[in-house]
Amino acid sequence: MDPAGPVARGQLGLIESSFWIMVEIFIVVSAVLVVALIRFRARSDQKDLPPQVHGDNRLEFLWTIVPALLLALLAVGTVKESFADTGSPVVKHALLVNVTGHQFWWAFQYPSLDNLVTANELHVPVGEKIELGLTSADVLHSFWVPRLGGKTDLVPGKTNYIWFEADKPGIYYGQCAEFCGTGHADMRLIVDAQTPAKFNQWVKTMENPVSTPTSALAKEGEKLFGTVGCSTCHTVGGTSFAGAVGPNLTDLTGRLMIAGNTFPNTPQNLYKWVHDAPAMKPGALMPNFDYLPPHDVKALVAFLESLR
Ligand code: CUA
Repeated sequence: MDPAGPVARGQLGLIESSFWIMVEIFIVVSAVLVVALIRFRARSDQKDLPPQVHGDNRLEFLWTIVPALLLALLAVGTVKESFADTGSPVVKHALLVNVTGHQFWWAFQYPSLDNLVTANELHVPVGEKIELGLTSADVLHSFWVPRLGGKTDLVPGKTNYIWFEADKPGIYYGQCAEFCGTGHADMRLIVDAQTPAKFNQWVKTMENPVSTPTSALAKEGEKLFGTVGCSTCHTVGGTSFAGAVGPNLTDLTGRLMIAGNTFPNTPQNLYKWVHDAPAMKPGALMPNFDYLPPHDVKALVAFLESLR
């Protein structure tokens, strides 16, 4: 109800016009009902049944044609809005971002920006059309950032295109809107709409990732990342770790949240997450590492905290 871009505004306009059409129908039907109740009520001097009336061609015609016209009116608006919101095949001058739904997180890939990849936090420049190519790696998901636009399904083996634009810089919250398993409610995302200058800065950071663990602990963590199994799933830009199953962790310290945008990105939460992810987020496909000694987990967190 609080649109922050042209697509969301158009969709809200459609909802509002449908709402007012329905309010008018409600008022007319209620008024006719009240008049009928009063005018044709049983009177005290009335013994017999009132005259029995069957059929009225004018009325039948009227209550067929009026709803048909109203539906046609709504259909025109709906079809117009649907075509205006689809990004298919490609919206002109739009920044394309490929979105892949995973149980239970989001992958964002920018083909025109060096193919950079990030997870759960979609960075976009304000005032620019963003085209999303939506698909899924496993089951059905649905992309939904209410202030920027309506829901669109992510279907395995198919790409759906939509677009949106954010008017003002800010954080816009989103949520998977199609039941996709245990972690569905925790499959969240944010859209971080930035001024073009800040966005370009973010792109530069992502294109030149720095992984420079300085402390001995962080260096130990980097080694463990490769030996205990983290690197089979996760990519870390600036290192040789290139797993492609779980979220890309490049510039992890730049993120506000972890675990599909469920918990604030703090060292304490990272520790709990690395130690036993499924305990923090039921259904999480990241394995339980609670057999690792606390020192190793601390080292891994120190390494993750060094990713810029
Ligand atoms: Cu993904 Cu619900």
